[in-house]
Amino acid sequence: MQDIDEIEKSLLAQVVVSDAPRDVLKSPELKQLYGAIKSMSADKRGEYGKRINDLKLSLESSVSRREADLEDKTVVTIDVTAPWDVNTCRVELLPTEFGSQHPLTLELENVADIFTRMGFEAIESRQIDDDYHMFGSLNFPENHPARDGYDTFRTEEGFIAPAHTSTMQNRILVAGKDKLEAGGQIGVVALGRCFRNEDLDATHEHTFHQYEGVFVSRDANLGQMLGTLRSFFECYYGQSLKVKTQPAYFPFVEPGLEFAIEKPAALGGKPGEWLEMLGCGMIHPNVLLAAGIDPKKYRGFAWGGGIERLVMLKYGIEDIRHFESGKLQFLRKFA
Ligand code: FA5
Repeated sequence: MQDIDEIEKSLLAQVVVSDAPRDVLKSPELKQLYGAIKSMSADKRGEYGKRINDLKLSLESSVSRREADLEDKTVVTIDVTAPWDVNTCRVELLPTEFGSQHPLTLELENVADIFTRMGFEAIESRQIDDDYHMFGSLNFPENHPARDGYDTFRTEEGFIAPAHTSTMQNRILVAGKDKLEAGGQIGVVALGRCFRNEDLDATHEHTFHQYEGVFVSRDANLGQMLGTLRSFFECYYGQSLKVKTQPAYFPFVEPGLEFAIEKPAALGGKPGEWLEMLGCGMIHPNVLLAAGIDPKKYRGFAWGGGIERLVMLKYGIEDIRHFESGKLQFLRKFA
């Protein structure tokens, strides 16, 4: 048995360095051990046979482990950041002249451009946020039912996929405070993606885009806001427009309004056909206070509108779901 222990040790040592570990199972030492059974007396054969069997089992499992290790080493590592599967031949990339910008990208740039020309700074809104910027800083009291109206998606860690670009208001105000105190104004438009967990139909998507305007100065007023919005829509649709407002409730503005335009005749509108384009109003004093701005010294207005509905009206797109569909037939119309 002493010999068997030593032979086992030596065979196991061979297996862990061998490139053909299964060959060790055919080694002459092992054959010899098996051969010895025949010449053994019946009373020793049982114990000896069991020992040889144990040795064979431990060798076989060591051989399997070694084979698995060798196989791992031969697997080609995949570069998951590569734009094609490196294990196949390199794909032919699409020539860039066949590609085009997505209509929403084009129109986001167009909207940003109009406001930039009016003197606003354009920034991109965040795609993940927290309860404070979604609700707390915007004067939504804890457990207020108005929070439910935004159908927010939340991560398990408590982060929020922003349901509106108003999540940027507090950041814009905090960043612009010094400029205000130095005698300037805050004028920023934040554009970006929003997410809502709601029933989808021709005018409601789970993922859509908004443009949020924030303006603060010593004497900002509703007249300036209405003028700014009217100029924007007339510039965007390239024609003069009738506009109207009606009262609306948003906790972060007071008064709060809905801003509507009369659907332009050139876009198939009939007189008296009004389209609600966005929510707006004078920034609530609590929102200014949350950013450290004194509402007795400064006043502001804000608005938030949907990009998709703006673009749908411009191009006569009947269903919002086309934008995210990835259908080339739809996208090529904007190439
Ligand atoms: C808001 O989101 C407010 N944050 C707007 C606001 C900003 C008011 C600043 C006052 C001051 P509302 O939920 O109404 O409000 O959405 C504004 C616009 O976003 C809508 O008019 C619509 O154009 C667009 N919108 C909202 N939900 C969706 C949706 N599911 N799919 C596509 N567009 C949507």
